[in-house]
Order: sequence, then C-alpha cells, then structure tokens
Amino acid sequence: MSELPPGPRVPRLFQMSHWIFRPIPFMRSCAASYGNAFTIRFIATPPMVFISQPAAIRQVFTGDPANLQAGRANRVLKPIVGSNSILMLDGARHKRERKLLMPPFHGERMRLYSQMMCEIVDRSIVSWPIGASFPIHPHMQEITLDVILRAVFGVAEGEQRWRLRLTMVEALGLAGRNPLLLVAAWNRLVRIRREIDRLLYAEIARRRAAAQSDASDIMTLLVAARDEEGRPMSDEEIRDEMVTMLVAGHETTATSLAWTIHSLLRNPEALAAARAEVAHVIGEGQRLPAPSPEQIAALEYLDAVIKETARLNPVVPIVVRRLDKDTPIGDYNIKAGNIVAPCIYLTHRRPDLWPDPEVFNPDRFVGRRIDPYTFFPFGGGNRHCLGAAFATYEMKIVLARLLSRVSLRSDGGQTVRVVRGASPLLPTAAYP
Ligand code: HEM
Repeated sequence: MSELPPGPRVPRLFQMSHWIFRPIPFMRSCAASYGNAFTIRFIATPPMVFISQPAAIRQVFTGDPANLQAGRANRVLKPIVGSNSILMLDGARHKRERKLLMPPFHGERMRLYSQMMCEIVDRSIVSWPIGASFPIHPHMQEITLDVILRAVFGVAEGEQRWRLRLTMVEALGLAGRNPLLLVAAWNRLVRIRREIDRLLYAEIARRRAAAQSDASDIMTLLVAARDEEGRPMSDEEIRDEMVTMLVAGHETTATSLAWTIHSLLRNPEALAAARAEVAHVIGEGQRLPAPSPEQIAALEYLDAVIKETARLNPVVPIVVRRLDKDTPIGDYNIKAGNIVAPCIYLTHRRPDLWPDPEVFNPDRFVGRRIDPYTFFPFGGGNRHCLGAAFATYEMKIVLARLLSRVSLRSDGGQTVRVVRGASPLLPTAAYP
C-alpha cells in the first residue's frame, strides 16, 4: 500500500491559489486526472488527501475519533471562533461539548421557532420590490441572520440587538474574505472581536443574573446546561460556542436557500410541484398561520428539492480530519499528520452513484433513504452538523412561506458563477 495518492505537481502556491480562486474547476480537474483519491498541497499545512468513494468515506466517518481529528484540522478558524469552540475540540472535550450543545437543537424544540421564523420571512417579503428584478441572496442572509439572533442569541428587538447584529455582520464580512486579505485586516478583526466579546459577555452576565428564566433561546439554555459531573459551561466556553453557531449556521443556511430558490426558478416543473404540495399541506393565501412541525415534515417534495440542491451545490465542499496515526483509507495507508478530506462536491456528482449526475432531479430523493456516505451535505460521524435539523426546518419554513405568499421568477439570461462566499466554516462556500 502506498502512502499518499498522486496529485498535481504544480508548486504549492499555485495549488493554494487554485483552491482559493477556482475551487470547483480545480477539484474537477484533479478528479478527472487522478480518480478516486488525490493529494493536494498548500503552504504551511499538511498534505490533504481528497476522497470521493463511499467505502473510503465510511472508513473516515466510522473510524476512531481519537485518530481522525477534526479539531486539529480546523485550526485555521481559531482566531474567529476561539479555542473553546466545538469546531476546535477533539476527544473527551469534544464529546462533552456535543452533549451540552445538543439538547437545544433537539427536533421537539423546533415547534417553538415556527412562529418567529414566519414573522421574520413575512417582514423581509414586504421589503421586496414588486415587478422589478433583485438579487435574492442578500434577503436570505438577512432572514437567516435574524433567525440566529432570535433563536440562538435570544436578542430581542431594540438597540442592543442592532449593535450586536451590525458588529457581527462586519466581523463576518472580514472573516469571509480570502485568507490573504484576512491577514491584512488583522487589526480590525482584533478590534471587532473585542467589541463582540464585550456584547456577548454582557448578555451572558444578564442571563446568569436572572436566576430563573422561561426564555427559550439557545444562549439561555447553555447558561443553564450542566455536564455529567454537574459543571456549568464557563463564560468563555459559551462565548466561543455562540460565535461558532453564528459562523457555522448563518451564511451556510442563507446560501443553501439562495441555491434552492435558484433551482426552483430554473425548473418550472419542480416549482409547480413544490407550490402544489405547499398549497395542499399548509394551504394558500396571505394570512396563513405558522405551519406545525407535522406539516413541515409532510412536505416531502420540498425536502427532496432541498436535498437535490444540496447534492449539486453543497455549500461546504469538503470536511477535514487530521490523522493521529498511520491509517488505511481506500487503497492507501495514509501517514500520521496528513489530512484526509471526504469531498462532498465530488462524491455528490459521481456518475457511478448518481445517474445523469449533472441533471437536477428531486425525484431521486422522493421516498428514498440515501446512504450517508454517498450523500453528506452536513458531514458525518461524530462531527455531523449540530444544526442540520434546525437548518433543514428553517429552510422548509422559509421556502414554504415564500411559495405560498409570493410569485418569483428568474430574470433569465444569466449564467451562474460559483464564488468564494463569506462562510469561513471551511475553505469554500458557493452561491449564485
Ligand atoms: C444548510 C446549512 C448548513 C450546512 C450545509 C452545514 C454543514 C456543516 C458541515 C459540513 C459541518 C462539518 C461536519 C463534519 O466535519 O463532518 C458542520 C458542522 C457544524 N455545524 Fe453546520 N451546517 C449548516 C447549518 C448549521 C447551523 C444552522 C448551525 C447552528 C446554529 C450549525 C452548527 C454546526 C456546528 C456546531 C458544527 C460542528 C460540529 C462538531 O464539530 O461536532 N450548522 N456543518
């Protein structure tokens, strides 16, 4: 067994700039040249082995988490999310953190969020121009940011909320630039981080002071949470997790929504079918009450549209694990210290797994459970996205509300270009 699969032989600087500036053509051309597994090399990081075969991906997602370390592989995000972020942790600390963070994302809690999510969508819709063309992505960003601020941060209307919001938008804008610009903007990032910390610690202190609270936001739940030994989370831990959820959950959901609307507008049959399903399950008209979780669960076709969009345009193209010891993966025995990257984008477009892979066809998902190593827009194993149920619920509410309240159409003629977005969760985010 050899140690590393082959890969491009151009200098590391070129490989890195291809990954930053034209990630999709770069991944595709590597897959065309080298097949199931290839190694790419950047400056100042270990070699990264991209894989796209379900059997190899299974080995990664079901392997020993003590060996396949996501926290160590995610180090680049530390200046933004902080060292206590779940994204940075491995081993026992990661396990403890997941247990603490999990309950607020439990499916049952979604019931609490429906009304608030619908109000936020309705408020956004009334600001949209009628009869004129406009980009949809900024509106999706506005909606998903408001949802996070309300559901996760529990920030109510008012001045404080806006300050937090504006500061965070600024921080995200900075973080989303390419890594080279991030270095240049370091001083500003440090200043903004201090301002965010001040705001967040004040919010945490306010919650600690209120002995009992019936608030349902996630920050309040984390202040009240206790681990198995009865210990609470520290202020620093809560701060880091709040920033993590904002960074991991805002832009990803907004971009997925924009892609899904794009898919629907480009595919009139799918649009008609989704609209008919929403009318049938939830009803029609401007004054509908917020849908129940049962109604949301019954929107099977809409669910398939969201999945098919995530198959073709996953907003996170790879997940990463750093190996602590030499590990057989696929046809290789990969040495300790290297990074292995299950590639969502390439796996989702393999012709041996998906007939006519480039064709948008939601029916692939209708009434079918797909293997989690063939389709994994939320990653997998012990690191599977904590917000997956929340994000899916939110996307279905937003889309159902739009389909029942407005009639959108594509202004046509435009080609779609994938560009690097503002999500620093992983190296690339894509949006129309
Ligand atoms: C459509 C929207 C979203 C997508 C596509 C997405 C995707 C992902 C992916 C690919 C990972 C890495 C998984 C791995 O390494 O195997 C991840 C992790 C994570 N996501 Fe999401 N995510 C979304 C929304 C959210 C939301 C709304 C939240 C929270 C509010 C969230 C919180 C997290 C957290 C905390 C992790 C780290 C889990 C861990 O390391 O144990 N995500 N997400």
